[in-house]
Amino acid sequence: MRLGLGEVIDTLDRDAALAIGPELGEIFVAAFGSYGEEPADADRFATEQLPTHADREDFRLVAARLDGRVVGFAYGFTGRRGQWWPDRIAEAVSAELADEWIGGHFEVVELAVHPDAQRNGLGTALMTALMSGLPHEKALLTTYSDDRPAPRLYRRLGWQVLVPDLGWGSALYGLDRGVPVAR
Ligand SMILES: CC(C)(COP(=O)(O)OP(=O)(O)OC[C@H]1O[C@@H](n2cnc3c(N)ncnc32)[C@H](O)[C@@H]1OP(=O)(O)O)[C@@H](O)C(=O)NCCC(=O)NCCS
Repeated sequence: MRLGLGEVIDTLDRDAALAIGPELGEIFVAAFGSYGEEPADADRFATEQLPTHADREDFRLVAARLDGRVVGFAYGFTGRRGQWWPDRIAEAVSAELADEWIGGHFEVVELAVHPDAQRNGLGTALMTALMSGLPHEKALLTTYSDDRPAPRLYRRLGWQVLVPDLGWGSALYGLDRGVPVAR
């Protein structure tokens, strides 16, 4: 997808995403640096988090390039009960909410845009590209429970606040896409 002058969004599969893992790690740390991520977390992202998640069902990563350089990304996969994040969320919410939303959902794990490239619409374009054409009826993510760019962006894109505060400073957001799921 070509956005504007020199801006492109690509959808990457497992191997293509892992091939640019170190670049993504640098963006991760630059984007989350003011929220507490340390420079060493770039390596942890590239060598632990991303390889683990890249093997998950329906893994999809979208990367934004500006003049050929990666400046942002988002990724997710199909979440299942028995995995750490869905089970942790299920314990923190009502049984009714868990039954309706958790398991077989598309799980948005990360969204990050380098600070130099923020406030140009790239975060919005990345989330739109990530969700485009997915067969999942439900999608889930956690984000900050206070007022920041990320929660504002999700709400603008139609995500609803399912739980405003899960107890650790995160809110649970859901997107009911209303698509019949054959799986
Ligand atoms: C959240 C994040 C990905 C948003 O990326 P982004 O590329 O800046 O996103 P957008 O440009 O689409 O939108 C951000 C803001 O810029 C504004 N904007 C977009 N295009 C603009 C333009 N051409 N001129 C002026 N403002 C613009 C949007 O209206 C929005 O404003 P708001 O924050 O006041 O609501 C980025 O801030 C980030 O990486 N944050 C740190 C990591 C993080 O929080 N990730 C999510 C964890 S759940």
